[in-house]
Amino acid sequence: MNYTVKTDELTREYFDSILISTRYLDSDLPNLEMELFGEKFETPVMTAALSHLHKICDNAMEEIAIGAKNAGAVHFVGMTEEDELAEIIGTGARTVKIVKPHEKDEMVKFKIDHAVKCGAFAVGMDIDHAISWEGKYDNVMGFPMKPTTSEKLAEYVKMSDRPFIVKGVLSPEDAAKCVEAGASGIVVSHHHGIMDYMVPPLMVLPEIVKAVDGQIKVFVDCGITRGADVFKALALGADAVCVGRALMDPLKEGAKGVTNQIEAINRELSVIMARTGAKNLKEIDPSVLRFRAF
Ligand SMILES: Cc1cc2nc3c(=O)[nH]c(=O)nc-3n(C[C@H](O)[C@H](O)[C@H](O)COP(=O)(O)O)c2cc1C
Repeated sequence: MNYTVKTDELTREYFDSILISTRYLDSDLPNLEMELFGEKFETPVMTAALSHLHKICDNAMEEIAIGAKNAGAVHFVGMTEEDELAEIIGTGARTVKIVKPHEKDEMVKFKIDHAVKCGAFAVGMDIDHAISWEGKYDNVMGFPMKPTTSEKLAEYVKMSDRPFIVKGVLSPEDAAKCVEAGASGIVVSHHHGIMDYMVPPLMVLPEIVKAVDGQIKVFVDCGITRGADVFKALALGADAVCVGRALMDPLKEGAKGVTNQIEAINRELSVIMARTGAKNLKEIDPSVLRFRAF
């Protein structure tokens, strides 16, 4: 039994249920530039927090970082060894390090501290990776996990001395707690279907955007494969998106494949923005969207 099928299928169906009308008069070719935490990037398309890519190509974790850097994109990274992270950040990619919700507080703090020392652009935690398929606390590669509390989250935010991003938020309730804890951003995500029948991120995104009320950045991942998906996420209020699995095939060609894939996604996003009258990311207008039966 493949438990992830339903959530991924529903997520794709939801993307495809959103249609786009046009605005040609007074439109022009758009600028995709994005400002994030005081730095400028060339695109709102970021790489998702990935890990264990070693079988895809040589030095895959560094290659994806270089691919993101060459596309002018923010690069996220997931679970890593310490020396591995130092090498990844050493590529010069602006890297957001996502730490797992380790059972041991000291482990989380050690990982955050190490990422900061390596020069991570931001740090964060995937709060959705604490429960296993068997209904126990998860164990990832031999490391025991445990659900994080709001109190601990606030401590991690405080000690990290740079933007802290909480990944795996899928409700306005968690989003409000992240704001309360002092996070700088959240990734609305179901972690490629970590449970069956999870709500498609774009379905819950408007409620989450309303709950955070502009106080923190809102990113989205899960199932984003093309510019149209990115456009819909941004129109529904996301500040940027992350792409994971859609980069894995291109990564077989190394950094170049990753850059090319991000640029292909950018191209479709540009076409849709130009045809909907958005000259920059801030001008993306939710009123162009239409929703058919889902
Ligand atoms: C091979 C692989 C490794 C991943 N490792 C991590 C990880 O270490 N930490 C994390 O937060 N998410 C991890 N993820 C989840 C992604 O960041 C992302 O949430 C998920 O894949 C959904 O995005 P996508 O549909 O674009 O792939 C991983 C995903 C894949 C496919």
